[in-house]
Amino acid sequence: MRIVDLRSDTVTSPTPAMRDAIYRAELGDDVFGEDPTVNRLEQMAADRVGKEAALLVASGTMGNLVCVLSHCARGEEVILGDQSHTFFYEAGGMSALGGIHPHTVRNQPDGTMWLEDIEAAIRGHNVHFPRTRLICLENTHNRCGGAVLRPEYMDAVAGLAKDHSLSVHLDGARVFNAAVALGIDVQELTRSVDSLSFCLSKGLSAPVGSVVCGSSEFIAEARRTRKVLGGGMRQAGIIAAAGVVALQQMVDRVAEDHKNARQLAEGIAQIRGLSIDPAKVQTNIIYFEIATDRLAPEKLVTELGKRGIKLLCLGPSRLRMVTHSGISSEDIDLALAALAEVMVKI
Ligand SMILES: Cc1ncc(COP(=O)(O)O)c(C=O)c1O
Repeated sequence: MRIVDLRSDTVTSPTPAMRDAIYRAELGDDVFGEDPTVNRLEQMAADRVGKEAALLVASGTMGNLVCVLSHCARGEEVILGDQSHTFFYEAGGMSALGGIHPHTVRNQPDGTMWLEDIEAAIRGHNVHFPRTRLICLENTHNRCGGAVLRPEYMDAVAGLAKDHSLSVHLDGARVFNAAVALGIDVQELTRSVDSLSFCLSKGLSAPVGSVVCGSSEFIAEARRTRKVLGGGMRQAGIIAAAGVVALQQMVDRVAEDHKNARQLAEGIAQIRGLSIDPAKVQTNIIYFEIATDRLAPEKLVTELGKRGIKLLCLGPSRLRMVTHSGISSEDIDLALAALAEVMVKI
């Protein structure tokens, strides 16, 4: 049976070109700065997003944590969205390991936080308050359905941050999806942030790794923070080799994932008992609801699983599907046929 795995774009496997690059990678000890493949990836990544320097890390979670710990000291505060990945899904790392205080602001359905809400969350000078140090944005926004933040919005947040002497970090796990969806150079989305982390191992299909980017000074500090977290890897060129191929070959093709996601959303909108607004699907993540109480979402997941279709249940009636390089247009047809078959029986 063909398995159509729509749980996440993290399920992607390395391409043949990546496996070949991994096999041939020139290696050295990266803690001594001597792995030529890591150095090449870091330079490529920095150039691509328009920053001075970059640092390979093990994961998106580590990338965000390294950045937050590098920007903030104990007792300082980070403003971030109440639906952000960093707040929801990163095991409270900033407080657990850094003594850093998360201050959440409501995420709007389009992934933004209103500027007035951010401004209201910035602390004044008062001995009772933590000190605000950083604002975090997420683009694309995972829990807001892969929503794309536009460059003008990002610049406006950065302007506000500057007025209050704060820094801005971008969780850009899928920032290339955002750039491709908007049809712009990724640098328009990165120009105003002080640091960002993007993932090699999601839509770009590399097996492991994320890259943190920023000024040379910031990356020197981030390198030290990565070491503290046990993330100083040695012959990491094995990982970086796939990352180089990811940046060279896998960025533009995410447009196909976005097209497949729209096809999926439009199909779901036609199925009785399911609810989605296809117009809201901008990139490769779709959320839909079960609009009947005759079917529990867990049951839908089980029934689809029997038909080879995998998806995630992320709430009492909320389900998620994510398209990626392992999913073709024919797979979308299979998923829609299975959904229609299950829904017609209830
Ligand atoms: C927006 C966002 N940020 C960060 C991460 C964390 O990445 P990782 O799973 O590599 O730790 C994810 C993972 O799905 C994500 O969606």
